[in-house]
Amino acid sequence: MRARAGVVYLVGAGPGDPGLMTMRSLELIASADAIFHDRLIPPGALAGAREDAELVYVGKVPGKPSVPQEEIGKRLIEAAQAGKSVVRLKGGDPFVFGRGGEEGEALRAAGVEFEVVPGVTAGVAASAYAGIPVTHRDDASAVAFVTGHEDPEKEETALDWDALAHFPGTLVFYMGVKRLNDNAAALIAAGRDADEPAAAIERGTMDGQRTAVATLGTLAEAVEREGIGSPALIVVGPVSRDARRLPGWSGGRCTESASSSPAPVRRQAAWPRPFVRLGPR
Ligand SMILES: C[S@@+](CC[C@H](N)C(=O)[O-])C[C@H]1O[C@@H](n2cnc3c(N)ncnc32)[C@H](O)[C@@H]1O
Repeated sequence: MRARAGVVYLVGAGPGDPGLMTMRSLELIASADAIFHDRLIPPGALAGAREDAELVYVGKVPGKPSVPQEEIGKRLIEAAQAGKSVVRLKGGDPFVFGRGGEEGEALRAAGVEFEVVPGVTAGVAASAYAGIPVTHRDDASAVAFVTGHEDPEKEETALDWDALAHFPGTLVFYMGVKRLNDNAAALIAAGRDADEPAAAIERGTMDGQRTAVATLGTLAEAVEREGIGSPALIVVGPVSRDARRLPGWSGGRCTESASSSPAPVRRQAAWPRPFVRLGPR
């Protein structure tokens, strides 16, 4: 379906692998007059855009100057009010730590029609490509998506470490690398087992994906040693050890921390080697 004039589409582009973009996102990209896009969109995501489409980069790089959120909202509104069909293209899903909610509110307040087009969120896809089923039936009957890095303007943390420590399932932290050490310490102090398996997945679903598997208590050290950086997800829970035995995608690399001592496992790990290098796809 073609993008309609005067409408803003908040579109999820998925976690990085172009093959995980939805048909709806590709149709909208191909027909939009203007596309405002983020940094973390799949390579080639804009290849199908019209030649005369206006392509505007409004991405945020952690720690670097970027277009303020209010300004992005203002520009979306202006473009729609000028009669353009507008795609706001974001990594993953727009409503999962994607600020799509704020943009939708701004559009609604300005009387601009908008639609949300969900995308595949990194918390599920990067985990899957790393071989981690976030709700493996034997290990986790719930999963929580958590921000590992809150808005620096907020004075107090909204994270309830006690509740997270006792959450009966998998914890998936977005934006969690920088504060991994502090967050892991907070979880352990609140009662989560330091020996619980944990993983960090860098560049999930993209070329060069890497996974480090350790324990909650040792993951920060493993991440530091391996030089794992953003974008990366932190997965805490018994399912994390599946990265070693169910590698979901042959383009990735999995490193088991030498200093890790995961909690006793009910199922035997199928990956006896401490370091697994996987072949090309
Ligand atoms: C601002 S949030 C955006 C999340 C996005 N809306 C989603 O649904 O996946 C950015 C964070 O998402 C995670 N992330 C996004 N893409 C990723 C990827 N390909 N691999 C690992 N983590 C990713 C990282 O934790 C990163 O710091």
